[in-house]
Amino acid sequence: MLTIHTIPELRAQLAEWRRAGQRIAFVPTMGNLHRGHLELARRGRQMADRVVSSVFVNPLQFGPNEDFGRYPRTLEQDKKALAEVGADLLFAPTAQEVYPRGMDGLAKVSVSSASNILCGHFRPGHFDGVATVVSILFNLVQPDTALFGEKDYQQLFIIRRMVADLHMPIDIIGVATEREPDGLALSSRNQYLTEEERRLAPEMYATLREVADKLRAGRRDFPSLCYTGIKRLEASHFRPQYLEVRAADLSEPKRDGKEFVILAAAYLGKTRLIDNVSLNL
Ligand code: PAJ
Repeated sequence: MLTIHTIPELRAQLAEWRRAGQRIAFVPTMGNLHRGHLELARRGRQMADRVVSSVFVNPLQFGPNEDFGRYPRTLEQDKKALAEVGADLLFAPTAQEVYPRGMDGLAKVSVSSASNILCGHFRPGHFDGVATVVSILFNLVQPDTALFGEKDYQQLFIIRRMVADLHMPIDIIGVATEREPDGLALSSRNQYLTEEERRLAPEMYATLREVADKLRAGRRDFPSLCYTGIKRLEASHFRPQYLEVRAADLSEPKRDGKEFVILAAAYLGKTRLIDNVSLNL
C-alpha cells in the first residue's frame, strides 16, 4: 500500500489508475481505525479495482471546545490495518496541504437543509466543516464510489444531499454500524470512556432499540416515546443532548410513516456518544 502526503503525488498516482480504466472506491476517515472503518474499506475492495482511504483529522469540523487536540492519532497502526484489508493508497495530508490559505475566508459547502438540526444544533458549523472537507477530498480523489458509515446517519444524509445537489458523479454507499458484542457502536471516542462509563455506554443502543420496539408495536406518541428514552439515558448517568424520532429523510415523523430513524446524542462523563436505529415497517 502506498502512503502519500501531498496533493501532486496523489493526483499523479490516481491519474495513472484512471488512465488504465480502473474504478476507484474512496473511504475518508479521521484515522484511529477500528473494525467499523475497516469494514468500509473491505466493502470498497469488493466494488472497485482500487481502494483509496484518507486519514485527516479535519480541524474545520471541530468546535472551539471540542476534542481536536486530543483526538487519537495513530497513523502507523492505521497504515498496517488498511494494508491488511487490501487498500491500495492511504492519503494522509497535513492541514497546511488541505487548507494552504488557512481556514479563514475559505470557500465552504453547506447543506443548509440538514446541517442545523439534531447534532448540527449542538455543534454549530460542524457539518459545514464535514461537507467542505469531503468535497475537497472528492475533488482530489475523484472516486467512482465512496463509502460512509450509517453510525453517522446525519453525516451520511448530508453527503448524499451534497452529491445530489452539486451533481457530483459519485455513488455514495452507506454501511451498517459495527458494534461491540454488548451493542455499543464502535467509535474512536470510546477509548475516552472510564471503565465505569464503558459499562454504562451500551444503554444508548438499548434505549434506541426500546423506542424502535415501541414504534414497531404501533405506538406513535413520538414526544412521550422520546421523553421516556431520555429519562432512561439519564438514569444511566448520560447527559442527553437529544433523542428524537424522525422520518428516514430526517423530517418530522408522520403517524402513517413507514420508515423511521431514532437518533440520539449524549455525554457520558466528558465523552460525547451518538447512535441511531433505523426502522423499516
Ligand atoms: P470518522 O469518524 O473517522 O469516520 C470515518 C467513517 O467511518 C465514517 O463514514 C463513519 O460513519 C464510519 N464509521 C465510524 N464508526 C463506524 C462504525 N461503528 N460502523 C461503521 N462505520 C463507522 O466521519 C468522519 O470520520 C469524518 O467526519 C469524515 C467523513 C472523514 C470527514 O472528516
